[in-house]
Formats: sequence, structure tokens, C-alpha cells
Amino acid sequence: MSVFQYLMMMKHNYFFTILAVALTFGTSGALSAQTFDVIEDFEGYAIDSTVYRYQISGSACKAVVEADPTDATNKVCHVTTTSASSQSVLNLKNYVLPEGVRIRDYKYLVFDYYRNPSDQNGCLAYLSINASTVWQDPWNASPSTTGRWQRRVISLDKASTFTSNKIARLYVGLLGANKDYYIDNIRLVRELDAGYDLADETTSLRYWADKCELNLGVAMADGDNWFYSSNAVSNDNSTWRNVFTGLFNTTVCGNEMKVDATEPSRNTFSYTNPDRLVALARQKGMRMRGHTLVWHSQLPSWMGGGEEGMYNNNNYTREQLLAIMKNHITNVVSHFKGKVYEWDVVNEAIDPWNGTADHMRRSIWYQVIGPDYIDSAFVYAHAADPNARLVINDYGAEYDGETKAADLLNLAKRLKSNGIPITGVGLQFHTSLGDISRKKSQIRSLLLKYRAAGLDVSITELDVAIPASKFDNATAWSQQASDYKALLDVALTSANCHTYVIWGMADSFSWIPGQTKYASGQPLILDDLLQAKPAFLEMRKLLQARAAALGIESPSADASAERPQRVDVFTLQGVRVARDVDADEAAASLPPGAYIIGGRKVLVR
Ligand code: XIL
Repeated sequence: MSVFQYLMMMKHNYFFTILAVALTFGTSGALSAQTFDVIEDFEGYAIDSTVYRYQISGSACKAVVEADPTDATNKVCHVTTTSASSQSVLNLKNYVLPEGVRIRDYKYLVFDYYRNPSDQNGCLAYLSINASTVWQDPWNASPSTTGRWQRRVISLDKASTFTSNKIARLYVGLLGANKDYYIDNIRLVRELDAGYDLADETTSLRYWADKCELNLGVAMADGDNWFYSSNAVSNDNSTWRNVFTGLFNTTVCGNEMKVDATEPSRNTFSYTNPDRLVALARQKGMRMRGHTLVWHSQLPSWMGGGEEGMYNNNNYTREQLLAIMKNHITNVVSHFKGKVYEWDVVNEAIDPWNGTADHMRRSIWYQVIGPDYIDSAFVYAHAADPNARLVINDYGAEYDGETKAADLLNLAKRLKSNGIPITGVGLQFHTSLGDISRKKSQIRSLLLKYRAAGLDVSITELDVAIPASKFDNATAWSQQASDYKALLDVALTSANCHTYVIWGMADSFSWIPGQTKYASGQPLILDDLLQAKPAFLEMRKLLQARAAALGIESPSADASAERPQRVDVFTLQGVRVARDVDADEAAASLPPGAYIIGGRKVLVR
């Protein structure tokens, strides 16, 4: 790809960043557009010529310039290797930085690659400077998909001490045997206009979400963003981690608390990764949701058979499977007791399209235990952590008037009226561009119906998928911003909605492209380079406006509102002053001032 083509592709990003920053902060200083230097785009080579500096270990690696498989006008480098050592790693030792520029002036190394079907999984993306490895990318194997261009963004945090004007030896590439891929557009990116400043909390979302008493979060998952196996979860220097903890006040494991992860073999529990996220969340004052205890998917084979865990391959009886479910729930919920404020107890139990009268999914749980497996699951979870909020989570049940919305509402009401300890429902909100804006009034009316039933609604897995034909498209990104904002508006103005969780943090890592066979993507609120998209900026504006409009409630004004009996008390700065106390006694005994009592702002006179 030429620099010009790249600039054209990125121009919407410039436009948005500049426009949005100007709108949000006024013109507080000169705005530097994102700048980058292309190290190699292969346009200077003739087709079929060898890129010798890529063949650094002799004949085991071939690097030949060819036409881009998706665009005949673009030249790319085709790399194949037969053995794994340093082959297939591009040696950029002759690249000289522009006059006056040093490696530490750059923030990211970026390249695009395209894996052919025969390309072997399990390679490393690799960057070394002056013969010492500064970075290896454990994310490289995913998405392990072949047949499309993928962009890799390497943060240069660790290279900050390298001061030479010349990159003496910079290796970048994919390391491994039986590699077969194209690489293009290797570039160094300087400082970006992120749209927020981690040194200024008022530019984050969490600062304003705290004021609005909203749990505003993103999911972190291996399989999606490789937060755990990349070690970003425990690395103070990780840009990814710092952006995550700087911007959001809530999180959830995207995969790591699921049944296959927590109980891989019967009665053997494994919590390494979720414990790491819980520890980080506690250190950074973030709240954790728990996802998920009972589901038909991502089950270990000892529990359920078939791709979707729909078959009772192990021939369990109702009593046996109930005992297995109880043991699982008890173990997991007890392990995270007091650390997870809300559990998705049962996930995706409804399937109105399966032709059955009751619209219940015929999961192994339903088939072997019966429909009351749901009731039991809630009872077991409540016994293990009586303070945790417990919800039933599902997709496609977000819009009042649609079949599945009615099914989930009726099920939740039935559970509640039977005395089952259910707090409410989780609505996943995996949406397509425009859905939310078009159906905003149906969302609002559905939340009101839940409220009338005494049930809360959490937004648990929000994303807004953009069709591939509209990637990097200004109109699409602005529609996406309207969608995120419309749902946030409903959340902030509904008395029974306190949680708004997005299924991933940045577009470079989302489950949507894989899930939709690459027909759509860019569904999140930060872009590939962790810059704020219009959705992020619109959300911040709305949170700011809402925080400004919020008054402090007095206890008497709210005497009729339901308040949990046992509560924690915090100062407005989030310092806990009492734990597990009676709400009314606390209000009576505290020194005058403003507090958060049981999640509400209360003025004690
Ligand atoms: C997805 C994860 O994001 C993927 O990494 C994984 O491969 C499959 O599951 N509904 C849910 C989530 O409740 O658990 C799913 O997460 C997305 C759909």
C-alpha cells in the first residue's frame, strides 16, 4: 500500500479525532495529527524480486514481492519459511530514522499481515532493537484466521530508552516454522491524539460514570484481546492495561469465568486468570461482574457433549447433574464472594425459534434437570454469596414488543414471584449499526416493565457492529456514536439500570469480526490504536451533562424507594467508611455529610 492510500484510509480518523477533541475540550492547544513514518511498503520493489534483508537465515526463508491477494495494484512481501529460528523476521537494520527523530519519539510499530491457509499457527510476532528482544507478541496467533488482512499494533513502551537516531537493528515479523503470509505497511507511529489523557482523570469515562453511579465497563478475554496470556493484566507498563484501568470503573472476564475455564475437569477448579483480573480490579477500584455459571456453550466435555454442550453424553441423571451444577456454582461463587457484585447465573436459556411451546432452549440442563434448573441455579448462587446481585442473561431480548423480550420478562417475573433470589436480567446488546437508535423507545419501555416488576436490568455485552463496507467511514462511526449514546441515555435515566458493560475495549480485538465471518467489525469505542472514537467522546459528553444535572438525594425524599438492608457506606471519594451495616442505622449514626449508602447518594444532616 502506498503512503497516499494509507492516508486516504486513515483520513476519517484524523477528521474525527480533531473534530471531537475540539468539541470536547475547546481548542486547548495545537492539535497534532497522527503522524507516522513508513519503514517499508514494498512499493519500490519489482514484482517477483527478493527482499534479501528479510531472508536473514538463508534458504529456510523466502521473501518475494508479489501483488496483494486482495488488490492487484498494491505490492506486498510474501514470506514462506521451512524451519523456525529467526527466519521470517524482517531485519530493518538499515532503516534510518528521519532527521532529528529518535525511536523513543514513536509510540507504536504497526504492520499489516495476511496469512495464507497453510500458514502454521503458534508463531510469535517479534520486535528487537539492537539484538535485545523488546517485545514478543503473544496475541499474534489470534485471530488465527487466514485469508484476510489483519493489522498488528505494537506498543513501543519498552523502547523508550533507546536514543539513537538510527535503528541499528530492528527486527519485526512472524517467527515460526511453516509460515506462509504476506506483510505490508511496516510503519512507526508517533504520538496520537487519543482523545483522553490518562494523567487527567476528568478526560476518562470512569470519572464521570462514578459521579453518575453507573458501573461502566469493558470485558477482558483471552480469545478476544489476550489480556491474560499476553501478561498485560499484570504489567504496569502495558499501555493496554493502563488505558483499561484509566478509563473504566467496571470489568468482567470475557471467557475466564465460564465453566470450561473454571472447572476443566470434574471437581477440579482453576482460577488463575480470573484471580488476576479480580486483583487488578481491586487495586484500581474497579467493580467486577461474573460471567457465567450455567450455560449450554463453552462447557467442558466431562459435563456436556456436542459442540454446544447440548447432549448428555455422560448419561447423567437429574440428581447427578443437579449435584454437579450445585457443586460448580457453590465453588465458583464462594471463591469470588465479595469480589463479584453481580453474576450472570444462567446465560441464554431462551430460544423462541426452536419450535417448542415454552421457548426454552433444549440445553443439557433443560433436558436432564428440567426447566426448574434455573430456579435451582439461583438458589445455589444466593446461598454461596447472599450479597451478590443475581441476573439471568440473554441476547435478542432487548426490544419491547419482540417475542424474546417478552419471553425473558415473563421468565424473570415468574422466578421473582416464586421467591427465587433474582435481582434482574442482563441484556447482552450485541447489536448492528442503527438498531439501538431505531428502537430506543422499545428499550425504554421494556426497562419500565422490568421496573414495574421490581427487577433491574444490566447492559452486559454491548457492541455495535459496522458492516465491512463501512469500515473507517465517518457516517458509520457517527451513527455508532448515536447508538452508544442512546443506550447510555436510557441507562442513566432508568432507575433500575446501573450497569453498562461493553464486550471489549478496542476495535483491534473484538469477537465480532470472527463471529460474523469478517462481514462486520469495528464495534467498540476505541479504535485499533486505542484512540477515542466518536462513540467514546459522545458518551463522555453525556456523562458529564448527567453528572452536572445530578443533585444529592436526601433520605426523606426517597423514603419509599427500595434499599438493600445490609449495605456498604462510602464517602463521595469512594473511601469505604462502613461495611455490611443496616442502611437506616448507618444514615442515623454517620457524621453530617454526603455519602454513598447502598449505591445511593445520601445527604446526612
Ligand atoms: C464470546 C467470547 O467473546 C469469545 O471469545 C468466545 O469465543 C465465545 O464467547 N454471548 C455471551 C458471551 O454470553 O459469553 C460470548 O462471548 C458472546 C455471546
